[in-house]
Amino acid sequence: MTVRARPDPAGQVSLSDIQLPVRASLARVGEEMWRIVAVDSALLNGVSEHLMLMKGKMLRPTLLLLSSEADGAAQPRAAAYAGVVELIHLATLVHDDAVDHSVLRRGMPTINALFTHQVAVIAGDFLYSRAVQELVRLGDLEALRVFAKASNELTIGEMRQLSALDALRFSEEDYEFLIRAKTAALFSAACEVGGLCGAERFRVELAEYGSYLGMAFQVVDDLLDYTGASATVGKPTGLDLKEHKVTLPLIAALRTMPPASRAAVDDLFSSPEPDDAQIARVVGIVEEEGGLDYARERGEGYASRADEVLSRLPESPARRALQDTLTYVMERRA
Ligand code: IPE
Ligand code: IPE
Ligand code: MG
Ligand code: MG
Repeated sequence: MTVRARPDPAGQVSLSDIQLPVRASLARVGEEMWRIVAVDSALLNGVSEHLMLMKGKMLRPTLLLLSSEADGAAQPRAAAYAGVVELIHLATLVHDDAVDHSVLRRGMPTINALFTHQVAVIAGDFLYSRAVQELVRLGDLEALRVFAKASNELTIGEMRQLSALDALRFSEEDYEFLIRAKTAALFSAACEVGGLCGAERFRVELAEYGSYLGMAFQVVDDLLDYTGASATVGKPTGLDLKEHKVTLPLIAALRTMPPASRAAVDDLFSSPEPDDAQIARVVGIVEEEGGLDYARERGEGYASRADEVLSRLPESPARRALQDTLTYVMERRA
C-alpha cells in the first residue's frame, strides 16, 4: 500500500492521533447529539443514554470535521452536522444489530438484547428522523440531499445482504456493490458534508476519498469478523458465518477450494444454526485458501485509491490526518 507510514517508532496510528486536529470541535459533538435527541419519553431516553454511554470510535464525525478543515478554517456549524452523521450511524447500528440478531456492540449489550426487537426498530427510526429534523432546522437542503441519499443507499445495501438468495454464489462484484451501499455511502456523505462546511471546492474529492475509505473500512470489518477477538472488537466475531453472510475472504477462498473443504462450507450454510466448531473449521479453510490475504490486499487497494485522491488536496494538518486515517483503518483491531 502506498499509504504513508507515520514516523513514530511502531509505525502505528491511533484514533487520538487522527482526531487531534479536530479535538475541540469533536468534544462539542456529544452535546449536539444530546440536544438533537432530547425527548419526553423515558424509553427513548433510556435508549439514547445507553447508546451515548457506549461511545464508539466517532469515526464519521471525525471525518466530517477533518474534511471541513481541508481548505482552511471550518464553519462552526460543522459540529452540528457531525452530530447528525453520528446519529444516522447509530440508527443504522441499532437496526443492523436487530437484523443480525447481535447481542454485543461496543462491548455492551445491543438495544435488541437489552430492550426488545420492537424497541430497536422504533428507536432506530427515532434517531434517524431526529437527524433529519436537525438538517431541516439547519435549513441546508444540500446536506439533507447528501445524507438522505446515503441513508437510502444504506438500506438498499442492508436489504441486498438479507435477500441474497444463494449466498454462496455471491460474487466479488456483488460484494463491492454491497459494501459501497451499506458502509461507503455514509463515509462518503460524512466527508462531502464536511466539505460543504468549509472546503466546498474539494467536495467531490472528499466524497470520493470517503467512499474508498469506507470500502477499505468494511473489508477490514469483515476481516475482523474472521480474525478478531470479540473482547477487543467489542462485538461478536464469527457472526457473519453464523448468520450465513458471505464476505470477501470466503468469496476469494471459494475459488480454489478443494471438494472436502467445500463440503464443510456447504454444511455450515445448510445448518440453520451453525455451531462454533463448524465456524472455526470454515475460518481455518478460508485462511488456508488465502482468502484473508486476498481480502487484505483488496482493502489496501481501496486505501491506496483514497490516498491518491487526497493528493489533489492542499497540504494541511487535516489532510495529514485524513491520510493517517487510512493507516489507522487498515491497522485497527477494533
Ligand atoms: C460499525 O462501524 C459498522 C460498520 C460499518 C462495520 P464502526 O466500527 O465505526 O462503529 P463504532 O461507531 O466505532 O461502534
Ligand atoms: C455494516 O455491516 C453495518 C451497517 C451498515 C450498519 P455489519 O453487519 O458488518 O456491521 P457490524 O459488524 O454489525 O458492525
Ligand atoms: Mg451487523
Ligand atoms: Mg461486521
